[in-house]
Amino acid sequence: MCGIVGYIGDKKAINILLNGLSALEYRGYDSAGISIICNNAIETVKTKGKIIDLASLIIDKHTDLNGKTGIGHTRWATHGAPNTINAHPHFTKRVSVVHNGIIENYRELEELLNKKGITRKTGTDTEIIALLLDYYLKNSTPKEAFITTIKLLRGSFAIAALFKDTNTLMLAKNESPLVIGVGENENFIASDISALIQYTQQFIFLEDGDLAFIEKGKVEIEDSSLNPVKREIKTIHWSAESAKKGGYKHFMLKEIAEEAQAVRNTIQSRIDEKGNIFLQEEINLDEDLLKTLDSVTVVACGTSYYAGLCAKQILEKFTGVAVKVEIASEFRYSYPVFSKNNLFIAISQSGETADTKESLRFAQNSGLTTLSIVNVKESAIARMADSCIYTLAGPEISVASTKAFVSQLAVLYMLAFYIGKLKGKDVTKETKTLLSVPNIMQTVFEKTDELVKHIAKSYHSYKNFLYLGRGLMYPIALEGALKLKEISYIHAEGYPAGEMKHGPIALIEENTPSVVISPDFEPFYSKTMSNMEEIKARNGRIVMLSDKKSDIADSFIELEKIDYNFTPFVYVIPLQLFAYYIALYLGHDIDQPRNLAKSVTVE
Ligand code: M6R
Repeated sequence: MCGIVGYIGDKKAINILLNGLSALEYRGYDSAGISIICNNAIETVKTKGKIIDLASLIIDKHTDLNGKTGIGHTRWATHGAPNTINAHPHFTKRVSVVHNGIIENYRELEELLNKKGITRKTGTDTEIIALLLDYYLKNSTPKEAFITTIKLLRGSFAIAALFKDTNTLMLAKNESPLVIGVGENENFIASDISALIQYTQQFIFLEDGDLAFIEKGKVEIEDSSLNPVKREIKTIHWSAESAKKGGYKHFMLKEIAEEAQAVRNTIQSRIDEKGNIFLQEEINLDEDLLKTLDSVTVVACGTSYYAGLCAKQILEKFTGVAVKVEIASEFRYSYPVFSKNNLFIAISQSGETADTKESLRFAQNSGLTTLSIVNVKESAIARMADSCIYTLAGPEISVASTKAFVSQLAVLYMLAFYIGKLKGKDVTKETKTLLSVPNIMQTVFEKTDELVKHIAKSYHSYKNFLYLGRGLMYPIALEGALKLKEISYIHAEGYPAGEMKHGPIALIEENTPSVVISPDFEPFYSKTMSNMEEIKARNGRIVMLSDKKSDIADSFIELEKIDYNFTPFVYVIPLQLFAYYIALYLGHDIDQPRNLAKSVTVE
């Protein structure tokens, strides 16, 4: 939700800011802006729309932005409509501010300003920060004004401020991410490292409560008590190429094509051909707890939640431990009962999702042992949990999550086998099978891409879809339906196939096609065939995904035969492609669908 960038050094800031904002556009894309210090004045350009609109505006009207210090922002509106006036930066003659998060007490602060005759002109909470800074600058240094202002704020924020009269960028972080990219005689800031990997591999991840004061050759950090602190400089080797489209029309298609490799990267250093699993060091939890574990609680949102639902079946099957999977936004307001030896698992691609993060905090406050499964290095959820296992999917840019999902499955499967083994189960065969999964996934992608594209063409004008599956294919049906919804804006519902007769069958008619996901395993296959008969009897069209064809299907996507336990890795691929191609035929903005953002850092 909103992306921040900043630069201070000897290069022209504008290109670095625009490049960085393009990389962060997945975080929000309804308006954007930059402020740069030019000839001792703060020059600000902002607009409704995307970075490309901002860049055109700059090319057309602001060719003289030569300054070497600047900040930029791409927005996902929370307070105030997505228009030019509400776009960040918010500025006065002396100061300019970009902000990601929500200032909860902005009305209280506004009253304080109003009493001094200062009023807000925009609909944003962020303008209050700029106005407070400007007010305090009248009688204090920029650093004093910054500290005084930040101490008044409540809520979540990553803030970067630029001052006319000092060549220092000032940052504050609380709950929202902020990273400093360390260069040679230059420094960068961003909401996440994907904006900076083309410039540096050295990063400082600020902690909650931190304030940072950045010059081109210097970074000073103070903690929430204003004591100077050293934060470690970490080296991260994400390649700049991994955050580019690499010849694909959209990140989403590129990321689907990368799924096999993402799973391979995630498992290859953690299991071997003999069926050994090397997770102990990463998990770093008391082995006795894992041996005596009697329940697992998994919490996540969206696609990550569906990965949890698949994994529940695998965890229960291979560990014998009861698993509950909860939607994070509900979990934290519920009254969960935990057993004595519970393990709490938070799953998140971004590592920033507010609901998941707060659920994790809730679990920690309840005294649970916590583990996170996260893709973005050093993100909040990764750092908060007692231990973290990273999915090694590389940067996922498209708002619709694909390769992160299969990588989450890979971690959850390894974890199930690892705990199963500790509990005395023989999981050697399954662990070895997992090693063969990436090659099968690669074949499936290559074999189904064209076919799915062709099938999607004849389905793209329907307005409603049902997705049906049983067993492990039920969460995959949910995930397939979510993918279609979010990028094609077509209504789609995932259902357990057996539940269809309890209601959704009323929807079936010639204009409501069903996507039936049914690998050839009993008892599921025969029962699902009966469901397909019921659909046909009501003139419903059927797209069937299976390794065994049924003549009832109108369209058939043939998939590789694979051990039932591993079918989620394979069956999700054509569903992602189906959603992708339907959205493509409909001409939608696939990587940045309307109303969405990649990291949902608000509740
Ligand atoms: O970063 P997270 O995994 O915590 O994100 C959770 C959901 O917001 C996310 O999976 C969302 O549902 C995706 N847009 C799905 O494609």
